[in-house]
Amino acid sequence: MKIAVMGYGTIGSGVVDVLRINKEKITKRAGEPVDVKYILDLREFPGDPMEDAIVHDYQTIVNDPEIGIVVETMGGVEPAYTFVKAMLEAGKQVATSNKNLVAAKGAELIKIARDHNVNFQFEASVGGGIPIIRPLNKCLTADEIEEITGILNGTTNYMLTKMAEEGADFDEVLKDAQEKGYAEKDPTADIEGHDPCRKIAILTSLMCGRQVDFEDIHCEGITKITADDFKYAKVLNRSIKLLASSRKVGNSYSCMVAPFMLSAEHPLCGVNGVFNGIFVHGNVLGDAMFYGSGAGKLPTASAVVADIVDMTKHKNTNIYIDWSPEKLTLVDYKDSVN
Ligand code: HSE
Repeated sequence: MKIAVMGYGTIGSGVVDVLRINKEKITKRAGEPVDVKYILDLREFPGDPMEDAIVHDYQTIVNDPEIGIVVETMGGVEPAYTFVKAMLEAGKQVATSNKNLVAAKGAELIKIARDHNVNFQFEASVGGGIPIIRPLNKCLTADEIEEITGILNGTTNYMLTKMAEEGADFDEVLKDAQEKGYAEKDPTADIEGHDPCRKIAILTSLMCGRQVDFEDIHCEGITKITADDFKYAKVLNRSIKLLASSRKVGNSYSCMVAPFMLSAEHPLCGVNGVFNGIFVHGNVLGDAMFYGSGAGKLPTASAVVADIVDMTKHKNTNIYIDWSPEKLTLVDYKDSVN
């Protein structure tokens, strides 16, 4: 299988690393070797072992019939959407880690993939290396999923954990998260909750099989949390966590992203640092918890490469994902708080 990687940043280079580190296992599980033929990036990478694979025009990949799978790790909606759409229409399968793209265009890209008899997979878009998309699409299809509540952002969980453990204030932990490379220079998407909001929109779309727009979800970040809030939480034997939650209410769902005071017994209370935790309740399953590395180069690349292996094995099969473009109107979260 010859593949192309679009975007040679942290995750894209992680994909190349994972394919190299676990080459033997991946070849066995995919049924054939997986080789990176092209890397699309605007930059040059002199001295990089993949230097010769760098291309600057996505049409080079579109027009090469040898390329069967394309990985999108560029981030953002455009030009990722234009490139991914062109790849699917050219009959290439696509794996992406890009939650912005999946939240905005997931249903549409799944339909385009289906119309062209190829697959569009996005395991890495939620929960980094934690398996959650495939479990919802595959392992939990006997259930009506009635609730998903998660810590879906590693950066803010790292910051809140530090505030809880060290009594540090918000600006101090933000600076530390930026120095450690968790938070971006512009940390808005994490600290204002936009990142977990897109992720819970994706998970809710998979719960109900319809399009859930992240703009419709009530979203509060952590910028107003102070060191004093943690003092009160400690007295009450609680901790403060940024939760993204979706609950079935009648024929619809109530969704929100907001900081919550969790009791020490709550299963998500023990999810600390950059880890993510995702609690799922199904009507016949009962409760399940998914926990692990929710961000970072190799964990996220691990999920992308798992999609590559899956699509290499199933290159002649359409992997059905129940997510139609028909929009779901959410229940106002205030009407469902009890
Ligand atoms: N900024 C995200 C986080 C990266 O901190 O969780 C993974 O989606």
